[in-house]
Amino acid sequence: MRWPKFFVLVMALMGGAAPSAQMSTYDLGRKPSEEEIRALDLIAGPAGKELPPGKGTAKEGAAIFAKKCVACHGREGEGTKIAPRLVKLEPMHPFATTIWSFINTAMPRSIAELGLRDGTLSADEVYALTAFILYKNGIIQEGDVLDAKTLPRIQMPTRDRRLGGLMPRADGAKD
Ligand code: HEC
Repeated sequence: MRWPKFFVLVMALMGGAAPSAQMSTYDLGRKPSEEEIRALDLIAGPAGKELPPGKGTAKEGAAIFAKKCVACHGREGEGTKIAPRLVKLEPMHPFATTIWSFINTAMPRSIAELGLRDGTLSADEVYALTAFILYKNGIIQEGDVLDAKTLPRIQMPTRDRRLGGLMPRADGAKD
């Protein structure tokens, strides 16, 4: 993932969500609730204030990964021809919340033959998958529980020191 692409994704999601709030002309389906839109559209900043309730561990994430992610990212997250590796993450991931947000909004990509559709993960599953990837990168332990409190506290080894000021610590102290 390149940053510009990520921003295009963010803009696309923001643009896509707005009009649906006013769509009642055709009497088809139903208006998604504010909550449903927020869940699909959720991008969590470094401090994690936007993170929803839920939790998960790498152990739980491994089972979900085996079902929904290996087809593209490989058994150990080593990457394939069609999707990048998820181990040895590059410095473009300064915050653990970015990984959470990316999985929440963009993964899994849909593969009809495998019955995979976009945007089908629960908050618990996204926490578990984030934990699995961080565990595979040697950043957390297999049994560590990730939730809205613990995820933003993770210090990514790839974090550029110059980004320090963007990372308000969960306890409110200066970084
Ligand atoms: C149909 C293929 C496909 C499936 C299934 C899929 N991914 Fe991906 N994934 C991709 C592609 C392609 C990219 C690269 C996206 C880009 O370049 O913006 C990607 C990127 C990512 C990234 C960002 C990696 C980086 O270095 O920026 C993460 C994290 C991720 N996927 C996690 C997952 C998880 C977790 C699952 C399972 C729930 C999953 N993916 C399922 C194709 C897939």
